[in-house]
Amino acid sequence: TEFTCRICCLGAGYVGGPTMTVIAKMCPDIKVTVCDLSERRIAAWNSKSLPIYEPGLQEIVEGARGKNLFFSTDIDAAVREADIIFVSVNTPTKKSGIGAGQAADLQYWELAGRHIASIAEGPKIIVEKSTVPVKTAAAMARVLESNSKFAFEVLSNPEFLAEGTAVEDLLRPDRVLVGGEQTPAGLAAIDKLANIYRRWVPTEKVLTTNLWSAELSKLTANAFLAQRISSINSISALCENTGADVDEVAHAIGVDSRIGPKFLRASVGFGGSCFQKDILNLVYLCRSFGLPEVANYWEAVITMNNWQKQRFAEKMVSAMFNTVSGKKIAVLGFAFKKDTGDTRETPAIHVCEQMIKEGAALSIYDPKVTVEQMNYDLGSPSPDKVCMEQDAYVACAGAHAIAVLTEWDEFKTLDYSRIYTSMVKPCFVFDGRNILDHAKLRQIGFQVFAIGKSFSNETVLD
Ligand code: NAI
Repeated sequence: TEFTCRICCLGAGYVGGPTMTVIAKMCPDIKVTVCDLSERRIAAWNSKSLPIYEPGLQEIVEGARGKNLFFSTDIDAAVREADIIFVSVNTPTKKSGIGAGQAADLQYWELAGRHIASIAEGPKIIVEKSTVPVKTAAAMARVLESNSKFAFEVLSNPEFLAEGTAVEDLLRPDRVLVGGEQTPAGLAAIDKLANIYRRWVPTEKVLTTNLWSAELSKLTANAFLAQRISSINSISALCENTGADVDEVAHAIGVDSRIGPKFLRASVGFGGSCFQKDILNLVYLCRSFGLPEVANYWEAVITMNNWQKQRFAEKMVSAMFNTVSGKKIAVLGFAFKKDTGDTRETPAIHVCEQMIKEGAALSIYDPKVTVEQMNYDLGSPSPDKVCMEQDAYVACAGAHAIAVLTEWDEFKTLDYSRIYTSMVKPCFVFDGRNILDHAKLRQIGFQVFAIGKSFSNETVLD
């Protein structure tokens, strides 16, 4: 078959993989090649067990792979034949040097750009898919211009998908945002990319803007989302001390259409690879543009999140008679949220580390996170300190306490009477996601601690 257009994507991660898969599904006439430096990752994309888990993804990959969707480590070949090149490489927080701990590390981005310039044999549209600081596209355009005789248009097309619902978000996005240079060539490039999305996204949801607005919109969106979580979490602490119920407060404010009901769930804290990194990035930008008040304002979102994680760990220790030393604690859920196996910045890491420091023995169960990943995240703890179980009942047997750290649906329907019988008394439950039926647990005999609910004021049913 003759393809009408060729696309390639550098970076076959949580963003590049699903995004390109959905483009391939919706545009059978476009050849889509997803590339990565990691042979292991590409091999996994070409196998039966994909490197990431997303509901619905496997079916779509299998439907398009080998037809118009390809996964390859041959970056040069894919770049050469592509009209449009997406760059979806990682942009982690810098670990050292200027802006360490806050600024985005753009080395992978710039290397990808220079590489494209060195091998391109014609003009290309480069699409910034990674989340990057404002003005990165302009810098990239200069790198490309100075290293190649061909014309490159750099577009910003930030991705708003959420892990766990990536396929659904890509098929039915609230909006797609395409930013570009407001020149004739820039506008033409914007139109070319926007037209691909318009094949399945209603035109009014495909927003076009200038480069910097697009870049800043992504950082701002994540800052606002995280801010809502920190805001309700701050109120959860107040609820615990006053007898108010944070879920009731969240409901009461969320029905106000000006506030809206989403992203108001109090929890042990937010995680994921993006929120903290992107806010730090925004904070760094504000400081470098001489706006310390703005920087401090957003930084507080992270301070509150760190405090919430720590507060939860401290509550566990104080509730269990101020010592967890030698006690077995069952941890249900390790991923940073349900329906994903991703553990980047998961609050579970912080809580588990605190418990290990206090001398507890952990048994962890998560439906999707691999044992290798948990071991890696916890710094390869000794097996007598931490064991990973394949079954929630096994994890809970013989434990003094259960800590629910991810809101997996399957935790709601476990047989807690059976679990209670298998545990050491008194049995504690620390519900870090407020997903369990607390009244029922108390009836069984558990001591229940939940986020934003006062312990003493709860009536114990008998
Ligand atoms: P990831 O770490 O899962 O994937 C990035 C991939 O790029 C890695 O597999 C890496 O080997 C590869 N890579 C690095 N340099 C390369 C090069 N020169 N050529 C080819 N491949 C290269 O990262 P993820 O989660 O997909 O994020 C990518 C970007 O998208 C980040 O900037 C992130 O902030 C942003 N983003 C992430 C979202 C998420 O939910 N994870 C949502 C929206 C945006």
